Amino acid sequence: MATSGTSSAPELLVELDRNSKVALHRQLADGLRDAVRSGRLSPGSRMPSTRVLSADLGVSRRLVVEAYGQLTAEGFLHSTPGGSTRVAAVDTVTLPDRARSDPARPRFDIDFAPGSPDLASLPRQAWLRAMRQGLADIESSEFGYVAPHGLRAARTAVADYLRRTRGVIADPRLIVLCSGATQAIALLARCLDGPLAMEDPGFWLHRMVLQHNGIDPLPISVDDNGIDVDALASGEADTVLTTPAHQSPTGVVLSASRRTELLEWAQPGRLIIEDDYDAEYRYDRAPIGALQGVAPDRVVYIGSTSKTLAPGLRIGWMVVPEHLIGRLRTAKSLADTGSSVMDQIAFSQFLASGAYDRHLRQMRRRYPARRNALLAALSRHLPRAEVLGAAAGVHLTVRFPTGFPIDELTRRAAEARIRLEPLAPCYADPAAAPPGLILGYANVTESQIARGVEMLGRAARQLGAT
Ligand SMILES: Cc1ncc(COP(=O)(O)O)c(C=O)c1O
Repeated sequence: MATSGTSSAPELLVELDRNSKVALHRQLADGLRDAVRSGRLSPGSRMPSTRVLSADLGVSRRLVVEAYGQLTAEGFLHSTPGGSTRVAAVDTVTLPDRARSDPARPRFDIDFAPGSPDLASLPRQAWLRAMRQGLADIESSEFGYVAPHGLRAARTAVADYLRRTRGVIADPRLIVLCSGATQAIALLARCLDGPLAMEDPGFWLHRMVLQHNGIDPLPISVDDNGIDVDALASGEADTVLTTPAHQSPTGVVLSASRRTELLEWAQPGRLIIEDDYDAEYRYDRAPIGALQGVAPDRVVYIGSTSKTLAPGLRIGWMVVPEHLIGRLRTAKSLADTGSSVMDQIAFSQFLASGAYDRHLRQMRRRYPARRNALLAALSRHLPRAEVLGAAAGVHLTVRFPTGFPIDELTRRAAEARIRLEPLAPCYADPAAAPPGLILGYANVTESQIARGVEMLGRAARQLGAT
């Protein structure tokens, strides 16, 4: 434990293990990096001087200078003209309210948080039947540490589904089952070398997961045709994380010409990570097949059951090019030795029995009505909201004119127990983001939508913003 003596700099808990094989300067750098990432050291705060910290820790000053130098190079610290060292703002991982909230104690009566399907419609009986059947069929040996990347039966069922519905070239051998798309991104971050780009705006959680794994993604702008491939090509990234079927969060669909450009960009040595997170839902047009189906050797395809069944299941998958499968299997094995076998057997039965298709058909009828209710309520009560993107997925994004008091509206909504998610965290530079909201409509009823948006309209009028 280090205390920063009489200086006004923060006290730091950094534990150094002198018996460890890890060098002390490395332990110190790791400890400080964790403190910045976890928010224990807040952005802008002053670090203890190298003299004070070395005295507190009982290590040489050179060692502290080395650790500070390393973290400065990584962007976690910066030196000021006055000679002190401060915590930088860039790489701190501060979870937005949505991620911090405790779902066991919902604080909201009307929850427009995006990303959730209708949780009350999770087909519990069909899931139980699938689980029972799966348990009856499975060999005892498969309950062991047998397949960190997933049971063969589960990978085969997922491959059949992806081939059939998304045109994915899915070889079960090249599938890694994982804990949602989020773990897929984390595992990829550990396996890929070289600079990685992602859409800006893009999914804030994926940006954080990458940063948490040591990658600061290069932001690539998005317009009405999807990701700007010219901007991608003029940068130095050799991997890009993108959401072509329904850009997150804007909802635009990657145009045909951009698809071609993106595939041309992906020369050997380059990689597209295709996050196909809500492709099951298209309400006004035929779905376009996955990019992976055109270039399986240059695309990692990612999907999950978070938008179709429930995020809490944590069931996801990646289909990966041959040259990456070894590294990704190892990464999954080292992360958690494999996803729960119980979930895998239930899901593969659920797929094979047709229950998944039946559930999706039902939801595809339900969600457009909710989306239309939201559109109608917005045009009536918040006419300045510009709706972006295609009729697809389980959320829609709205943008308001510059100066619209979005933070105040969000605050007043929360007071009225209505949860809203602002658009700003999706931008690499949230301060420069246009005022906007990402509205989930699948987990709210039509009457909740009508009541909720009416209240928002009232609040906007009180704020003089209609
Ligand atoms: C862009 C995007 N990708 C993927 C996901 C799904 O993540 P997971 O499968 O880890 O729940 C979400 C969920 O909100 C998302 O918005």
